[in-house]
Amino acid sequence: MKKVFPVNLSAILTALGGRHAMQQLLDVGPSAISNYLTRGQLPQRAKPIIYAALTAKGYQLRPDDLEIIAGPAAITPHTVSAENHAGPRILLIIAGGIAAYKALEVARQLQQLGAHVTGVMTDSAKQFITPLSLAALTGEKCYDSLFSLTDEAEMGHIRLARSADLVLVVPATASFMARANAGIADDLATTILLATTAKVVMAPAMNPVMWAHQATQSNFASLRQRGVEMIGPVSGDTACGEEGEGRMCEPAMIAAAAMRLIPTYAARDEADKDSGAGTSRSLSGKHILITSGPTIEPIDKVRFIANRSSGKQGHAIATALANRGANVTLVSGPVTEPAPANVTLVNVTTAAEMLAACDAALPADIAICAAAVADWRVKAAADEKLKKPENPDAGMTLELCQNPDILATLSAAPNRPKLVIGFAAETENLLENAAAKRRRKGCDWIIANQVGGEDDPVFGSALNQAMLLTSDSVEEWPRMQKTELAEKLADQIEAEYSS
Ligand code: C5P
Repeated sequence: MKKVFPVNLSAILTALGGRHAMQQLLDVGPSAISNYLTRGQLPQRAKPIIYAALTAKGYQLRPDDLEIIAGPAAITPHTVSAENHAGPRILLIIAGGIAAYKALEVARQLQQLGAHVTGVMTDSAKQFITPLSLAALTGEKCYDSLFSLTDEAEMGHIRLARSADLVLVVPATASFMARANAGIADDLATTILLATTAKVVMAPAMNPVMWAHQATQSNFASLRQRGVEMIGPVSGDTACGEEGEGRMCEPAMIAAAAMRLIPTYAARDEADKDSGAGTSRSLSGKHILITSGPTIEPIDKVRFIANRSSGKQGHAIATALANRGANVTLVSGPVTEPAPANVTLVNVTTAAEMLAACDAALPADIAICAAAVADWRVKAAADEKLKKPENPDAGMTLELCQNPDILATLSAAPNRPKLVIGFAAETENLLENAAAKRRRKGCDWIIANQVGGEDDPVFGSALNQAMLLTSDSVEEWPRMQKTELAEKLADQIEAEYSS
């Protein structure tokens, strides 16, 4: 039986640009599309293809069921060639793992950060995505063969290896890491690794048991010792359905970390920060992690628990701090707020994903938890849509369990940010409850606001009224726009760092 999965197909068709576009993308005839529409299902093989095509168009999708969460975000296509492109040149090697489709998003994010990306794919990567999708995204030929006369005539493999400021492997599979560690050069990708003089960076991704295997651990340690930089992996759900360490870091995280590892880019970035360019660069060099928006916890395939957080406050803080030169990582639940400029945005859905993304973003100098994290999740979310019982009087009980507390976890982390800031929305005894919350969660400052007043919605509103509690002070702030509150908090952080 063919493997299928249920989808909101009309939304996907609209986003793709119609039935003909989907036909071409999936290489199927018109009757296949009619069948998909009638059944509301797509074949599993379509999932990575559609995911890649829509993320390339700027949409945000849930990878498991292709639900469109947001988009399309503004994308600046970079079609300039390597010769006249001023940004760093990155050779993006894609190895053959299920996470290969996420490498397309890494390519997109790198371009948004100003890099010029040239793709290289292994033979097994081509089982997951096509060189054409990468070439379309980068505006450059994607190289995939060591023995192709055309490729060698256009750009010999040694020149390709030497032309890069950075070689980035996404995903680095167990097999790829083993071959790289052994110095085997039996295809274009591994040959490049031996021939390059540039820094090599890998983002490992694999099944948790494969990751924990001694052979993989030894290859990982040895590559690292030889100077290969590793980004992740992190803990969480892996594509094979098992949970544990081995999940690849989010694309935005990989792109931002890779850019930071390019010496020329880092130097230019520092120079830009020093020059000021008309804005205050007071927080230049500080890495600030911010959580924002709600988290959404699945009940079954189509239903979920959510809250009304708009992400306005967290996003405004991200903007204010980025404008002061900070290097901001914004981990956000699903929101309609536009992505702030000059910020590394990591989109997540659940609290567990938010925690994993925060974990992966450390170390940071400052953490600000503005997200409205769902306190509970359904203990065993159903894989399929739950059926309503025939009996109209029958009740329904969902067993919930507590989500991790991200603020408390960051406050107690071994590599704890020096300054950890939380929010406390309280309906009564604002000062006492917020002060107790600050102590209980172990954070340094807490921004407390009264919620639940009839004319004072806070959630979703552009206004906020708050007080700032530290270990030894309380400062009351007047009602103001969330953007103003963000500037006020940025002033406070600046003052803390200048004193
Ligand atoms: O416990 P309460 O939700 O009132 O705490 C609010 C603060 O804790 C906010 O800063 C929020 O971002 C953070 N929080 C968290 N993880 C949770 C619950 C709350 O980071 N699971």
